[in-house]
Amino acid sequence: NNLDTLYRQVIMDHYKNPRNRGTIEDEGSITVEMNNPTCGDRIDLQMKVEDGIVQDAKFEGEGCSISMASASMMTQTVTGKPVEDALKMSEIFSEMMLGKDIDEKEFNLDDMGDVQALQGVAKFPARIKCATLAWKAMEKGVDEEQ
Ligand code: FES
Ligand code: FES
Repeated sequence: NNLDTLYRQVIMDHYKNPRNRGTIEDEGSITVEMNNPTCGDRIDLQMKVEDGIVQDAKFEGEGCSISMASASMMTQTVTGKPVEDALKMSEIFSEMMLGKDIDEKEFNLDDMGDVQALQGVAKFPARIKCATLAWKAMEKGVDEEQ
């Protein structure tokens, strides 16, 4: 349907024109490397966290379109957000990937921005790890920082 088509376009746009691809030139930034064990694809994520806020997030790496689009969307979505909110979003994203219905009274999916476009991935279990790779890297980075 139309929404699927729109979502596919959003995913392709993030894949072809990744947001926040690159590195942060700042010694105080967090660096996380994470692999998807099912395929060996890798993401290198860098984040700058200050005063409990994700000030900046950038990524490099090689992976399939879903993993790279998801990394682009994730960095775009968490930048400028409090760490707590970023972690909450990661939790919501995992639920989304499990195909759970998100209670919109509790969490407004619009807050996830373009990330919503990945909802359809839940139908393809083999690709869920592709979609969650960047989010897991973000969680790990934040954990190490605290
Ligand atoms: Fe990601 Fe197959 S493991 S597409
Ligand atoms: Fe490797 Fe998707 S196939 S991250």
